[in-house]
Amino acid sequence: MGLTFVTTNMGKANEVRSLLRALGIEIDVRAVKLTEIQSDSLEEISMRSCEEAYGVLGEPVFVEDAGLFIERLNGFPGPYSSYVYRTIGNAGILKLMAGEENRVAYFKSCIAYKLSGKPVKMFSGVCVGRISHEPRGSGGFGFDPIFMPEEGDGRTFAEMEIEEKNAISHRGKAVRAFAEWLKLTR
Ligand code: IMP
Repeated sequence: MGLTFVTTNMGKANEVRSLLRALGIEIDVRAVKLTEIQSDSLEEISMRSCEEAYGVLGEPVFVEDAGLFIERLNGFPGPYSSYVYRTIGNAGILKLMAGEENRVAYFKSCIAYKLSGKPVKMFSGVCVGRISHEPRGSGGFGFDPIFMPEEGDGRTFAEMEIEEKNAISHRGKAVRAFAEWLKLTR
């Protein structure tokens, strides 16, 4: 059975492909543009995107939605991360955090998977860390240059190889939970 991942973010597609390939699962990536609904819940956003993708392609699909939640900003940008990244970007986040000592933040990833005739199945993963004082590194994508995971050694995600990021990231955790479930049900 084919496994189709719908995303227009190739950074995300590369991470998910590499994670699943290491577990013996191959995916097809389809760049279908979906309408991202506005909601305070990542779960609701990914569930709705998944239903829309399933409607467009008519085959089993999964999508993934992620957000960066900054403690000092009461969880902002959270589910609005994509809009905030496009508008103020990493420089804007660093400006909002200027002079702040509490730099704790976490990334959350939600995967939604739909098979015909079944309700959408959800998997999630969280990675806690801190917002750096300046952008560092050129790997990864999005907020990677300003996020230092707690499980790491002080480097930002953008200073890590894809395998290092995948081993500890929110997306890595969500994908591994998904793969475990797939193996049990296939
Ligand atoms: P979405 O899941 O594509 O809606 O992502 C929301 C926003 O968070 C986008 O601007 C992404 O670039 C950013 N983002 C999502 N996942 C990550 C990640 O693993 N590292 C850095 N930024 C991310």
